[in-house]
Parts: sequence; structure tokens; C-alpha cells
Amino acid sequence: MGDILRKYHVVEKSLGMPEFRPGSAADVVKSLIVDLKKWREQDGVDPLANRQVLVAYRVLSAYLRKHKALDYDTSDIFGDFELDVELVSVPGGVKPYKDEGNRDWEELVPMLRARASLRTYDQERLPTSDVLESIAQTAIKAPSVCNRQTGRLHVFTGDLVQEILKFQTGNRGFGHQVPVLFVVTVDLRFFLSRTERNQPFVDGGLFALQTVLGIQGEGMGSVCLNWCVSHESDERLREIAKIPDYEKVIMLIGCGYPHAEALSPVSARHSGADILTVHDSSGDL
Ligand SMILES: Cc1cc2nc3c(=O)[nH]c(=O)nc-3n(C[C@H](O)[C@H](O)[C@H](O)COP(=O)(O)O)c2cc1C
Repeated sequence: MGDILRKYHVVEKSLGMPEFRPGSAADVVKSLIVDLKKWREQDGVDPLANRQVLVAYRVLSAYLRKHKALDYDTSDIFGDFELDVELVSVPGGVKPYKDEGNRDWEELVPMLRARASLRTYDQERLPTSDVLESIAQTAIKAPSVCNRQTGRLHVFTGDLVQEILKFQTGNRGFGHQVPVLFVVTVDLRFFLSRTERNQPFVDGGLFALQTVLGIQGEGMGSVCLNWCVSHESDERLREIAKIPDYEKVIMLIGCGYPHAEALSPVSARHSGADILTVHDSSGDL
């Protein structure tokens, strides 16, 4: 599935290039078609039930439409491959950036600057499963290499929270009243070679931040919790939390609704000017 996702993403990107070249990414389209055929040959698979396969079909459909509009012959690329009408009824491929980009993003700046870690929680209130799912939906919108979307969330409430926190080294004084705990992982099966050795941590870190912001967006607060632990502690967590071998734990996130009297450290920051180095070769700044 990782291959299908990676390949349709290349095709999708080619459709959105500033100067589109007809026939671009043809080799990837061919190879994607081979993967999709193989996938469909498996017994009992329903392409409608697999979101990524569905997206791949939609991207191919967009590719085909774009070339038809340009009167460019794609028979050499598509061969006998047919796009099932049912599968491509929802458009894929590219969308105008302005559909999303024209929002009032300025509103986001004060919000991002106002976020603070929360370590004192309302003990009476737990998020519903819909809220947890909404957090996951926001989290998976994080950018990821080739849109591989390898971030995974395991969420715990009740006694398991304390069982897991026993192995975490930075929750003294507040861990006992954390109502909800996320374990953030990445699925390593989507990474391909040694040159990508740091990518799980990069994608996992971005995914974790987007989870934090998703939690904030639901009116809750959170605290990131480091997972700088021994191999033994990592193994124990995997056992308790039932985390498969192919997932790597990135960090934990404690969260819940804020207690009315909760306090946060000021955690003063460097100024933007202090951490920014401008390399102005245009001379326009
Ligand atoms: C990867 C990571 C691990 C962290 N681990 C802990 C931790 O173990 N315990 C804790 O109380 N805070 C932890 N924090 C929270 C930081 O202390 C906090 O983000 C920082 O002091 C800035 O404060 P703010 O989040 O309120 O702006 C962690 C943050 C990150 C990003």
C-alpha cells in the first residue's frame, strides 16, 4: 500500500506543477497501474473500502481527464487499464489552492502564540470518541514525506494511563491526574532506505505537533511528554499499549479539558529577530 500511496502522490504533484508537461510522470502512472491491478487481483478486496486505493483511482482519472482536455493520447500509458466509473465519481488530482488558502490565516497567528502546555486537568470531563476522532483527523493533515501519512495515534484513558506513565520520565507532580494519554507513533513500513533514517522522526514530530494543535482546537489542552527511555521501557510500553513492532514511538501527549484554576509556566521565548538569519540575495528586504 505504501507504494501505491507514494506513486499516486507523484502523479498528483505532476498535475499541479506550474508548467504542466503532457505525458509527465508516465512511468510512474504505468507502474501505479501495475500495482493497482495486482491489488485488485487479490481475493475479496473491495477497492471502494480502501481509501488510498480509491484516491489512486481518482488521481489516475484526473490525469486522464487533463490529457483528454489537451487532446494528448494516453493509450500508450494506460494500455487496457479501465477506470471503473463508480470508483472515480469523486474527483481527485488537484484543487485550486484558493479553496483552502483564502481563509483568514491571520487569525491563526495569535492562537499559535497563545498555546501553552497544560498540566492541570478537569477531572470530571472526558472527550467523547467523536472528539478523539476529530483530533486524529486534524493530526493526519500534517505534512508528511510524499504524503505517506505514517503518523499513528494510540489513545488511553483510565488505569492504563497511569500504567504507561510509570515508564515516562517527565510527569512527576502532575502525571497522576492526566485523564487522556496519546502515544504518538509512526509506521516504519512506509520508509524505504537508509537515507530516510531520520525521516520517521521528522514526520513523527510534525504529526505530534499537529496532534497538539488538534487537541487545542477541541477546547482541550495538552502537554508533550518525552519518550527518551531505555530499550526495556520502550518494550514495556509496547506490551502494555499493544503497539506493533513496525511502529516507532515518537512521544506521548497528556491531555484533557483545562482545570479552571490551571496555571502554566510563562516559558518566555527568544525573539523572532534573535533566531532568524536573513540571506537576502535579492537585495529587496
Ligand atoms: C518532545 C517534547 C517532550 C517534552 N517532554 C516533556 C516532559 O516529559 N514533561 C513535561 O512536563 N513537559 C515536556 N515537554 C513540554 C515542554 O516543557 C514545553 O513545551 C516547553 O517548556 C515550552 O512550554 P509551552 O509548551 O508551555 O510553550 C516536552 C515538549 C516536547 C516538544
